[in-house]
Amino acid sequence: MLERLRSGDVRTLARAISLVEEGTPQGAQLVRACRRDARKSLRIGITGSPGAGKSTLIDQMTRWLRQDGQTVAVLAIDPSSAYTGGALLGDRIRMQGFAGDAGVYFRSMASRGAKGGLASATEDVCAVLAAAGRQVILIETMGVGQDEIEIAELADLTALVLVPGMGDEVQSLKAGVMEIADIFVINKSDREGAEQVEAEILAMQGLAADRDAWVAPVIRTMGTSGAGVKELMEAVQRCAAYERKKKNRTAPSELRLDHIGVAVKSIASARRFYETLGLLVSEEEVVEHERVKTAMLPLGDSRIELLEATESDSTIAKFLANRGEGLHHIAVRVKDVDAMFARLKLQGIRVANEEVRVGAGGHRYFFVHPASTGGVLMEIVGDSAGEGE
Ligand code: CO
Repeated sequence: MLERLRSGDVRTLARAISLVEEGTPQGAQLVRACRRDARKSLRIGITGSPGAGKSTLIDQMTRWLRQDGQTVAVLAIDPSSAYTGGALLGDRIRMQGFAGDAGVYFRSMASRGAKGGLASATEDVCAVLAAAGRQVILIETMGVGQDEIEIAELADLTALVLVPGMGDEVQSLKAGVMEIADIFVINKSDREGAEQVEAEILAMQGLAADRDAWVAPVIRTMGTSGAGVKELMEAVQRCAAYERKKKNRTAPSELRLDHIGVAVKSIASARRFYETLGLLVSEEEVVEHERVKTAMLPLGDSRIELLEATESDSTIAKFLANRGEGLHHIAVRVKDVDAMFARLKLQGIRVANEEVRVGAGGHRYFFVHPASTGGVLMEIVGDSAGEGE
């Protein structure tokens, strides 16, 4: 089932989500497999009171994402309705503009007194959607109760949608809700009172003290016309990059020098020196798709990797022909190789691979072009042991 799910089959996706929602053992097993899967989605929470125009806004965000070439899932969470197996009446009406577009998947989820609660069910469904290759998940919640706050916490970032003309809305939102907003959206911003809502948000933010903290931007939109949606999506990207940076910053110790790659004409003759030095070859292997033979020599917490070309037109052979033997690359180990790949790309760093690749022993890696690193080819290696539960 995971295989069919990974192929993007929409029927399998729908069946998989039902299995998970129903809490079947098969569903739980599937969720575990999905969590081990390397694919990750950006989870965007969209919350705000009923009547704020969230669904129209989500339509516009979806349109923007599709034009950007991204696959989208919309999860509409309604804690007040009974469980119906993803077949709420509204499902047939929602997202009709995307009928026939397999890149958009819509699903509603209703509360049913689920074991573990709605938030954990939502998290499970997000894992399934990620494995199914959905790059962005828009999680829509219907209000601002405890369920919604928990769901907002499982999102990577949350947009709080407000509308002008609802009186003291901002004041009444203070308790617990302002805090979940990474982005404020003033929707229906052509209405009278938009300035006032914005002023109230800014006044409240003035109290925030932490200078390094993310200050939620205030974006004005009109869901009906799509005005401001581009600005909203740019804010989403900035916020996602900030969140990733923050995650990385909290754990600098997770970055390690994994190995230093040295290109040699012949491993057999090169290892003589290293062995005389006192290093031992721990493993030697041929990586077919890179057409290279490698030998690893452990050195402290790190390693030296000797690289020998197996074919005359391989990358290493070309390197040897142009530059001779010598330092070829430095490899840094990171906890989450996918997050690092996305983060570097987002920041305009020149990444040398189209996607994260799978190497010998199943380890995952990609290369950063020397143009971005000060002249040294850099390999980023994933921490394969990091996925355990
Ligand atoms: Co390497």
